[in-house]
Amino acid sequence: MTTTTASPVAPEDPKAATAEPTTATAVTSEPETAAEAEGQVATTSPPPASAGILPASHWQQRAEEENESDNDSAYADSIASSTASLSASILEYRTLHGRTYHSDRGGGQSWNPNDAQHDEAMDILHHMSTLMQDGKLYLAELGDNVEKVLDVGCGTGIWAIDFADQHAESEVIGLDISPQQPQWIPVNLKFEVDDITQEWTYPANTFDYIHMRWMVGSVANWTALYKEIFRALKSGGTFEHKESSCVIQSDDGTVGPDSAIAQWGKVFLQAGKKFGRTFAVIEEDLQIKAMEAAGFVDVQVTNFKVPVGGWALDKKNKTIGKYAQLAIQRDVEGFVNFMWSSVMGWSKEEIAVYAAHLRRELKSGKCNAWYPMKVVIGRKP
Ligand SMILES: C[S@@+](CC[C@H](N)C(=O)[O-])C[C@H]1O[C@@H](n2cnc3c(N)ncnc32)[C@H](O)[C@@H]1O
Repeated sequence: MTTTTASPVAPEDPKAATAEPTTATAVTSEPETAAEAEGQVATTSPPPASAGILPASHWQQRAEEENESDNDSAYADSIASSTASLSASILEYRTLHGRTYHSDRGGGQSWNPNDAQHDEAMDILHHMSTLMQDGKLYLAELGDNVEKVLDVGCGTGIWAIDFADQHAESEVIGLDISPQQPQWIPVNLKFEVDDITQEWTYPANTFDYIHMRWMVGSVANWTALYKEIFRALKSGGTFEHKESSCVIQSDDGTVGPDSAIAQWGKVFLQAGKKFGRTFAVIEEDLQIKAMEAAGFVDVQVTNFKVPVGGWALDKKNKTIGKYAQLAIQRDVEGFVNFMWSSVMGWSKEEIAVYAAHLRRELKSGKCNAWYPMKVVIGRKP
């Protein structure tokens, strides 16, 4: 197995970092085991899922305290007004807190809203991810003749559209449980609707390349899914799977354990456990474990540190960080709404107040925050 650590990130203000700079230059090595591979990188050591979670009511109390101690705070004003307008809201649709979600009769359920606001946040993340990969849509080395390609859980379809545009020779399918994709698409692309956690209907040995990205929290049995992917690939075909961690952290203490930024990961990890669809895909090395269990060979692992905010020294990571921050800020409520309310029992008002705290921390420029992202590539023998 080959492991690469990419994207060095150094803080803009060296004095702000009390610890050593976050990581060094890209490293490539060949560890024998998944555990060894994990040891190669300065990613994250996951806390127990329930450790250190602040109650939902904490954020309103903190807002009130800060309101008393800081009457000039625009932030406190923004929280107060948003809470008031939420309480007065009479617009409660069946959709959760005014956001729409796919949910079908077969029990398929996505925690991601499928509305325009969330689509926008996901498309910003797509741009961030492409910048991270130096403009590349994928890291696999694909030959010249990639006939059939599948994008699993394609979301807005942006990756599949870009891939189809770049590969006129390929026939591309974007697959999602939610029919939220656009209609004006390249002629060599089509979108299909299905539940990827059910038995697949594609015949064995169909695809040359299968791509999957950001399905964390949507899958109960990763090995079963990887086995379906393995079966659907042609012999010699390639599977590439990218996930991001929900654990947003810092190397220099600027993201404290009680910060809204740190609570994001803690609550998601706990919610995933309760939901039965883990968010700890990176922390538990599930990509590599499932690759090996399904029978993939030549497994390659690339680890990224995604900066959140424009704090990095170098231009590339500064830009990436700004997009990563923008994506969260664009739709904090959409990211957390389903998991934190339906699964963890937070009210709409509690989520709104938390979101205001998070946005303020992100905008403060004081947090040298980052999260791990991991791409794992395997080949069907
Ligand atoms: C976080 S979005 C990622 C979208 C896309 N992969 C990207 O990179 O932009 C997760 C997507 O998975 C889809 N999804 C969730 N559960 C699914 C399932 N059981 N079968 C098919 N798609 C599913 C959701 O509808 C959503 O579009």
